Amino acid sequence: MSFRTLALLTVLALPTIAQAAERECAQSPGKVIEVCVFTRDGQALYAVSKGGKPVLAAAPMGLTFAGEAQARYTGITAAKRSASDTTWEQPWGEQRLIRDNHSELTVSLAGDTPLNRSVDVVFRLFDDGLGFRYAYAAIPADQAVAVTDDRTEFKPVGAYDAWWYEALGQERDEYLYKQTDAHRITLAETPLTLRQNNGRETGGLHLSIHEAALVDFPSMLLAGDGAGTYKARLMPWADGTLARKTGAFATPWRTVLIGDSAGALADSRIELNLNEPSKIADTSWIKPGKYVGIWWEMHLQKSTWGSGPIHGATTQNTKRYIDFAAKYGFDGVLVEGWNRGWDGDWIANGDKFSFTEAYPDFDIKAITDYGKAKGVKLIGHNETAGAVPNYEAQLEDAMKLYESVGVSQVKTGYVRHSGTILDQDGQPQWFAGQYMVRHNLHVAEVAARHHISIDAHEPVKDTGLRRTWPNMLSREGARGQEFNAWGDPTNPPEHTVILPFTRMLAGPMDFTPGIMDVVHGKTELTRRGQSTIAVQLALYVVLYSPIHMAADLPENYEARPDAFQFIRDVPTDWETSKTLQGQVGDYIVVARQPRGGKDWFLGALTDEQPRKLNQKLDFLATGKRYEAQIYRDGPWADFRTNPGALTVEKKIVTAKDSLDLDMAAGGGAAVRFKILD
Ligand code: NOJ
Ligand code: CA
Repeated sequence: MSFRTLALLTVLALPTIAQAAERECAQSPGKVIEVCVFTRDGQALYAVSKGGKPVLAAAPMGLTFAGEAQARYTGITAAKRSASDTTWEQPWGEQRLIRDNHSELTVSLAGDTPLNRSVDVVFRLFDDGLGFRYAYAAIPADQAVAVTDDRTEFKPVGAYDAWWYEALGQERDEYLYKQTDAHRITLAETPLTLRQNNGRETGGLHLSIHEAALVDFPSMLLAGDGAGTYKARLMPWADGTLARKTGAFATPWRTVLIGDSAGALADSRIELNLNEPSKIADTSWIKPGKYVGIWWEMHLQKSTWGSGPIHGATTQNTKRYIDFAAKYGFDGVLVEGWNRGWDGDWIANGDKFSFTEAYPDFDIKAITDYGKAKGVKLIGHNETAGAVPNYEAQLEDAMKLYESVGVSQVKTGYVRHSGTILDQDGQPQWFAGQYMVRHNLHVAEVAARHHISIDAHEPVKDTGLRRTWPNMLSREGARGQEFNAWGDPTNPPEHTVILPFTRMLAGPMDFTPGIMDVVHGKTELTRRGQSTIAVQLALYVVLYSPIHMAADLPENYEARPDAFQFIRDVPTDWETSKTLQGQVGDYIVVARQPRGGKDWFLGALTDEQPRKLNQKLDFLATGKRYEAQIYRDGPWADFRTNPGALTVEKKIVTAKDSLDLDMAAGGGAAVRFKILD
């Protein structure tokens, strides 16, 4: 039976419409999570519990529109229930088959303003969390409306720690996380991860508040009131309105993952399940893979994006990278600085970028022909410097050109201080307000028509849209490896044990791992990579992305064949993934099985503390023997004093064994379990 047939057979129940009560409750399929909705003193409220214990206290819902007062909700007029248990297949992903087992409750609220006279709130309840969205179905098709407030609040019950950074800072989402009492949150980006204060010792609750299916709506931030309530704050247009809509619409889903461990958050698939199925019928041209690029050498200032004596993107240099990629089995070569517009202050002059005209020393045709003969693709690069109208004007021509020469992946970029992108009317735009949410999707749609996938840097945060547009392969949206070239400061070891439980809950990240020479000639710790070399290998497994870069210079890989072997072997597309151990900001162990394969890969990381973890291998197939190819921190390894020490060893293991993961300060481990019989 195909999974599709299975999906059809397992739809459990048809919707039932009940007489509306004053209070409507619904439970997740396994009766783990419960939501109750009611109105009180003119507010529409929802409250959430897990296993009978309150998790989110009653908190307001609904939107306010321009020209109307804040609505008073007077009651529930209808409630509709349904349940569904299906399994669907990802074209690529961290897990091939995804089960979507949820119950749904739709409550219709009556309000006392014209636009809020009738609003539906749709809840989807899973055993590991929930999502809810507002549907304003009664707005006439041609009526333009402006949202001026999202009243949604989240009120976690009890004391929580939070991992967060101040939202709307000039570097967008490229900040280090801080851990504080959640009450100290002022304005946080999502996903926002919270852990009950005693969580560490008792396995208390872990929450992640975020959103799913962010389409044609501004991105949601969370404003703390100092007393444990977090209110939705949407990135506004220049005139202060939040969202501009015409006719009936539904908001993105507001989501809350609720788990007993950090790993439960990481292994939740709610984010994907709340997005629509693929709008791209034939996805066979969308390919995960590994790439190298003319990139790190610019960040190390060995070559330049702009033209001149050390221009990086030359035909000759690109052929050198293509040779390297072909020799070691990489799928693509990213080339930055190939197009006109980089000379001078390119951030200030983004409107000068051409996306079709190459510098004279970069011969696209010769390069792509050379690549084709060697089985290596050129990966395009479109740095816009946030000059969006300039990019949109050239988008169609650019994608057409790239398709014609066989480019099937483009990295985009929006380097510009948050809030200073200018639209076609010269109005300032936030990097993830409704304008940029529209733009990011527009780029993906135009690209899809030309069979091109997108890897967006300085992007709108991920909300699971890869399900609907699988050519949205990966994105940045956090501090990546590039900070380890620049310094001031570089990413401390705990950064990569925070990311899996925060930013990565949104979706894949193009972190660009694999730096072999983490010190790159620097003496100060905060100006070079703060990890051991084993960490750089483990990141390929720990941080999920369908495309991963081997970011270092070719000569640095050839100098470390011991470590490089793991990067050559590790795939980027998985049958299944499991977070085996983890504490936010302390450590993590992840295992993934290659899609269609029998091997397993494991990645483990610690923070600045050396750490010994024992890991049971019961995820391996029972009764099979595996060769464990272990890449671990070598003798006296330490991210401060001896980052390059690596021990590679092999041993035979079975599912009955366990493995000691002995990690140095700022260290980690990477393992390939190669099946033997
Ligand atoms: C920032 C991106 O994150 C980086 O990867 C890129 O090299 C530069 N912008 C230049 O486009
Ligand atoms: Ca960046």
